[in-house]
Amino acid sequence: MNAAVPRPTLDALLRLPPYQAYSYSYPHKTAYRALPAPRALREVWADEARDALFLYLHIPFCPYRCGFCNLFALAKPNDDAVERYLDQLGVQLAVTVDALDGPRFARVALGGGTPSYLTTPQLQRLFAMLRRHGIDPRALPSGMEVSPDTVDAEKMALCREAGIDRVSMGIQSFSDAEVRALVRPQQRDEVERAVAAIRAQGFPTLNLDLIYGIAGQSVDSFVASIDSALAFAPEELYLYPLYVRPLTGLGRMAGRDGRARFALQAEPQDDRPALYRAGRDRLLAAGYTQVSMRMFRATHAPAGDAGPAYCCQDDGMVGIGCGARSYTRGLHYASEYGVSRHSVAEILAHHLALTADDFAQVRHGFALDGDEQRRRYAIQSLLVKPGLDLDAWRARFGSGPFDDLPQLSALEPLGLARRDGALLALTDDGFARADTIGPWLASPTVAARMAEHAPR
Ligand SMILES: C[S@@+](CC[C@H](N)C(=O)[O-])C[C@H]1O[C@@H](n2cnc3c(N)ncnc32)[C@H](O)[C@@H]1O
Ligand code: SF4
Repeated sequence: MNAAVPRPTLDALLRLPPYQAYSYSYPHKTAYRALPAPRALREVWADEARDALFLYLHIPFCPYRCGFCNLFALAKPNDDAVERYLDQLGVQLAVTVDALDGPRFARVALGGGTPSYLTTPQLQRLFAMLRRHGIDPRALPSGMEVSPDTVDAEKMALCREAGIDRVSMGIQSFSDAEVRALVRPQQRDEVERAVAAIRAQGFPTLNLDLIYGIAGQSVDSFVASIDSALAFAPEELYLYPLYVRPLTGLGRMAGRDGRARFALQAEPQDDRPALYRAGRDRLLAAGYTQVSMRMFRATHAPAGDAGPAYCCQDDGMVGIGCGARSYTRGLHYASEYGVSRHSVAEILAHHLALTADDFAQVRHGFALDGDEQRRRYAIQSLLVKPGLDLDAWRARFGSGPFDDLPQLSALEPLGLARRDGALLALTDDGFARADTIGPWLASPTVAARMAEHAPR
């Protein structure tokens, strides 16, 4: 690892296209490595607060592999593997609850992949497993990710009854040609049927995901997709700029014959900035509030849950399942990360063979020293409204943010952030450049590790 690689200045980065990397969590999992020696789970959590943790269960299965997707997920697994995976979730959860001495959870999420890929009996099994450990989603904010084709009335009734109150569904686009360009086999009537099934159960929060930057998409067609989504009055909408990543379906096509419009790095004629502005303006005009570059919340969204569901600057996340990450203050850890079908299948096969003793050890992750903890705090709070609370930083770290991370002083003169009392908050221009500011705040060590990471 070469920690001495010079980091580009913000000025230099601002001359490049804005979409440099999505900093939804810091450090990125491509910066994780095998730890010098395995560490006991019990010891890793010993000094952490364990009374308000976030429990994340990862279901890495999908009915198909979308061309844009680089999430840790396997399409069309065999039935035995899914059952065996649920067995392993039970083993890992039992080992974790024991090692953390009866942790208390304040929030639960089923993420993926596509958790609704599970059958009704498998979902029943999953919720029963949680309840056996005293985890009752009915008593906590609890979310799950679904895709339109895997939603049905029976599953949604079960999930609502079990306590799920936020359902997040990927749609990406309402245009048949655009979902084809994303290599996602999705029919528009399937989307309408799925939303109706979700709404029929009265989930308090429905989130819908759309993507911009798709081959053949125009400002008009993107705004038309937003309007179609608005017709469902979702409590939240995420607008994702398309990233074409190595080893995804689109990444392979771009490498092979240039059929995809975007190369692996954004091209100069990239029109995602114009699409972003049009999408944001449309949602603001419809009365939505912008929470981050990607996230928008409706005024009718339930109060008291103001923050992106998977992104809080506080640590204390317990990830269960292959591909799930866990965060303590000083250590982030997860299984290895892969994108290609071969790698995901290999990592999953390894996971299915782990014993309870294996789950009691941490082997792969990233240790955060004081500087990395400050960078994480800056990235996780600055890129989201209301912004970075300077007093909260001092209370947490015992020192001033601009002394600790002098880079932060560069934002205001460039018009990307503004001081508002004790807050450092991004301006509109700052939000538009969130995917530049996040990677710019990464440490030289994290940047070097990410650059060295060989996609697999
Ligand atoms: C776990 S998926 C959503 C749930 C479900 N599996 C589905 O596809 O409907 C999370 C979301 O991340 C977004 N996403 C994933 N990869 C992306 C990429 N390369 N570029 C832009 N958005 C991406 C998509 O909008 C997707 O809906
Ligand atoms: S976008 Fe969703 S359904 Fe498609 S491969 Fe990724 S996780 Fe699976």
